[in-house]
Amino acid sequence: MCGIVGVVGNDQATDILIQGLEKLEYRGYDSAGIYVTDGKTNHLIKAVGRIAELRAKAGDTVGKAGIGHTRWATHGPASEVNAHPHQSQTGRFTLVHNGVIENYLEIKKVYLTDHDFKGQTDTEIAVHLIGKFVEEDQLDVLSAFKKALSIIEGSYAFALMDTKDPETIYVAKNKSPLLIGLGDGYNMVCSDAMAMIRETNQFMEIHDKELVIVKANSVEVQDYEGYVQKRDSYIAELDLSDIGKGTYPFYMLKEIDEQPTVMRKLINTYADAEGNMNIDSAIVKSVQEADRIYILAAGTSYNAGFAAKSMFEKLTDTPVEIGVASEWGYNMPLLSEKPMFVLLSQSGETADSRQVLVKANAADIPSLTITNVPGSTLSREATYTMLLHAGPEIAVASTKAYTAQIAALAFLAKAVGEANGKKEAIEFDLVHELSIAAQSIESTLSEKEQISEKVAKLLPTSRNAFYIGRGNDYYVAMEASLKLKEISYIQCEGFAAGELKHGTISLIEEGVPVLALISSSEAVAAHTRGNIQEVAARGASVLTIVEEDLATDTDDIIVNTVHPYLASISMVIPTQLIAYFASLQRGLDVDKPRNLAKAVTVE
Ligand code: F6R
Repeated sequence: MCGIVGVVGNDQATDILIQGLEKLEYRGYDSAGIYVTDGKTNHLIKAVGRIAELRAKAGDTVGKAGIGHTRWATHGPASEVNAHPHQSQTGRFTLVHNGVIENYLEIKKVYLTDHDFKGQTDTEIAVHLIGKFVEEDQLDVLSAFKKALSIIEGSYAFALMDTKDPETIYVAKNKSPLLIGLGDGYNMVCSDAMAMIRETNQFMEIHDKELVIVKANSVEVQDYEGYVQKRDSYIAELDLSDIGKGTYPFYMLKEIDEQPTVMRKLINTYADAEGNMNIDSAIVKSVQEADRIYILAAGTSYNAGFAAKSMFEKLTDTPVEIGVASEWGYNMPLLSEKPMFVLLSQSGETADSRQVLVKANAADIPSLTITNVPGSTLSREATYTMLLHAGPEIAVASTKAYTAQIAALAFLAKAVGEANGKKEAIEFDLVHELSIAAQSIESTLSEKEQISEKVAKLLPTSRNAFYIGRGNDYYVAMEASLKLKEISYIQCEGFAAGELKHGTISLIEEGVPVLALISSSEAVAAHTRGNIQEVAARGASVLTIVEEDLATDTDDIIVNTVHPYLASISMVIPTQLIAYFASLQRGLDVDKPRNLAKAVTVE
């Protein structure tokens, strides 16, 4: 959420900043800006809308150092005055910021009553504060920055530049991601390694409450007391081809298509050649010791938790409870005696989930983060980490992370169940069954054209729709409806099929699309078909998505049957494609739906 870049010591600074912002656009895309300097002339360029607008405005501006930002608005609407970078009262200091300064109004009242502000952002107040400490209170820049950091409360990744020292970027971080990229004779700053992978694969982590002085040939990390911190660099395992779209029109379609490969990668990672589980024994032991697993997550990851719940319980005999992270941070229910928290998060940066993890750590509750991003905040702060190995997910709508999360939980559940001596787990041939699921995904992916045609008929102008299902299909319905509304703007509810008649069925009228999911068992299928009759009798336009073994000639989309534990993985695929085509057919930006951003780093 919001992306930051910076570079010092490179003649191509403008291009490096803008290319970096293009790679970070998934984090926010309502406005953007850069500050570039060649030491004599300073340029502050901002644009509302996409990075392409900023690139056009920047033209052939040159510079050797600079900072840039792509914004997801929190304080004040998307406008040029609210776009970053922001400047101090005299314009000497320039700042970009990702995060939320909670006490910004108080800071304004206590320290900055005589200052003029151009916009409404919390960031502008921060840079005025730093400027005041230097220009009015005569502190040196580092002391002023530190003093400001000791006053500022909230989350931040800051990159600061001073017109009087154009060869330095000052950086600080608390609860928002930020990395240093190490170039040859120049250095960089970025929210995500993806932004600078064109320039370097060598990065350095910054921890919370650290301050970094970045120059062309040096990087010095300090804690807030000024003690220098030793920090090794690491090589980011990221390939340029991982972050490109290739020949795909949108990342979302590429990522949907990658799912069979991700399933196979997980097999290779979490099972050995004989099919034995290959999971860190400390994680297995910790889950074994728990009397209840609490899966905490947001959005699609929350839905993935539900999709895996029953399989996890059956394989391990351990009860699983799922919680919305944004609620649990403040409203923690009564926990069992020996809880273990599992944080499911594609990005590993979701602030709502982190809030829960902070509470878990404070209460000494063991935690496991299952994430796609090694080294992410949730990974670093949890007791244990399992990686999803899904490759970068760039489309805002999450697809491959959802199926990878369910598969990763299946590996964990089988390993724990086996360690518990549970027959069900020992007999469940996960490697084989997941290979079958990967084939089922491939088969659905080969039906894109037919699915696109069905979408064109079913959802041409609909304002609302329903997904219904029972058991695991209900949980898939929740995810399917989130995906559809997120990128097509069709209001859609995922509903337990049997629950409709208890109120919601009053919304069904002529032509309302109802998409029904049927997998798992004959008995469940019969009941869902009964519910389909009920809505059809009231005029609904029904589309059925059915597992092959339960299908009839009149069903619309047939999904190859897989093991019931893994049915959510195969059943969700057509719904991802339905959302994709609905968005595409409405002429929307599939990868960047309005009002959203990937990696939600604010609460
Ligand atoms: C929807 C989507 C979001 C995320 C949610 C949690 O397509 O991507 O609902 O799932 O913001 O994000 P992570 O998994 O990064 O914690």
